[in-house]
Amino acid sequence: MSKTISVIGAGYVGLITGVGFARLGHNVICRDINKKAVDTINSGRSHIYEKGIDEILEKAVGKNLKATIDLKESVLTSDITFICVGTPSKDNGNINLKHVKEVIRDIGEILKEKSYHVIVVKSTVTPGTTEKIIIPLLERSSGKKVGIDFGVAVNPEFLREGVAIEDFLNPDRIIIGSYDQRSGDLTEELYSDFNCPVLRTDLKTAEMIKYASNAFLATKISFINEIGNICKGLGINIYDVAEGIALDHRISPHFLKSGLGFGGSCLPKDTKELVFKARSLGYEPNLLTSVIKVNEDQPKRLLNLVRKRINSFNGKKVAILGLSFKGDTDDTRDSQAFPVIKQLLKENANITAYDPKAEENTKILFEDQIQYADSAKAALENSDIALILTDWKEFENLDFDGMKKKIVIDARNIIKNKENIEYEGLCW
Ligand code: UDX
Ligand code: UDX
Repeated sequence: MSKTISVIGAGYVGLITGVGFARLGHNVICRDINKKAVDTINSGRSHIYEKGIDEILEKAVGKNLKATIDLKESVLTSDITFICVGTPSKDNGNINLKHVKEVIRDIGEILKEKSYHVIVVKSTVTPGTTEKIIIPLLERSSGKKVGIDFGVAVNPEFLREGVAIEDFLNPDRIIIGSYDQRSGDLTEELYSDFNCPVLRTDLKTAEMIKYASNAFLATKISFINEIGNICKGLGINIYDVAEGIALDHRISPHFLKSGLGFGGSCLPKDTKELVFKARSLGYEPNLLTSVIKVNEDQPKRLLNLVRKRINSFNGKKVAILGLSFKGDTDDTRDSQAFPVIKQLLKENANITAYDPKAEENTKILFEDQIQYADSAKAALENSDIALILTDWKEFENLDFDGMKKKIVIDARNIIKNKENIEYEGLCW
């Protein structure tokens, strides 16, 4: 049976969640504080780049999906509210709950006027947060009792940007942690069209499943990068090694792509937060700190490779191809391209960058310090060296004519056409 769902925060996660539920036939209200984003959504288009999203939005807007800046209307007219506002990390690695706390406090006020309502936390919060911070805040601001007057659940997302719609509609599993049976049942009903396993847990177990999943994926990447770094020294291609180990079903072929390391809004942040949490318990998480260290060293290794080929970056024209944290997204949060750019700027390189989608988001950090080209070809023109930092498919068969010297350092194993160039891979 279709339900009315409000989604608070219509960013990468919230908008996909809203669009996904609309596609399943539910009525959806997406609430965001960003008026421009709300207007764009209501015109049937997405304010973020994600494959396939505009097609669904166009059909759903005016039918069973709308966006608003009005939080009260969103909560009062819905059966269930998903919290999807961002939870960026503080500099020390601790989670920043500012946005979550603000909307939770406001929702509590609104709940004063509402009979039983379910709040589902989809934003990533460290284990214990919903129980110790979110529920007490809701009870205080609403004057009501959890489990009786309102329900609370945790339903983490496992969406990969670039294929997020596909991931929403074909999940490996649905994880639902709940305070009360009723809120868990209501959340589960929303996903009744799916055949995948549904795991019901308590609140903090569901929160931990999200962190453990991302920490494991991060570990897999740093593992393959470490083996890759050793392989490089031995003259072995890590991609051949990965193919060999992936045939063992216990290992699986996924997340074994060696290169510049992991970025994005989740893997770096969640791994660091888990380290912070562990330390707050008096436990030193040696494995996770190494995972982070290997990842932070990959951009440095890349620059060291380049230094072996050109003595100094001073005044050299460096073409950077790829700025987003991975291909098929405009998202640059924690992109591994950024530490490379920062260091090159420190060493007075003259950078021209190109990315099919991420130029605007890069300009937030590097407005005038680097030049932006409209195409890969234009970025390469007259450059001394090309660094390939993101796995955009359009880079596969580039021709490097027009470069001063055709030195190409590939940090993502994406270049197929290696004829007539001086090619080197980061770990292969
Ligand atoms: C999500 C999760 O919520 C986060 O916990 C996880 O770790 C990463 O993925 P994401 O959707 O990627 O975050 O963040 P973002 O694209 O920044 O979207 C957040 C949205 O919430 C923005 O559109 C922002 O305008 C909105 N917002 C923020 C509100 O509507 N209210 C606020 O108070 C703060
Ligand atoms: C991730 C998780 O996969 C998803 O389940 C979670 O909910 C959100 O975080 P996302 O950040 O969109 O998704 O990207 P993901 O595909 O996981 O890639 C993360 C980073 O790892 C990227 O920088 C990517 O380039 C890198 N990566 C990924 C590798 O370096 N090698 C690989 O084999 C896979």
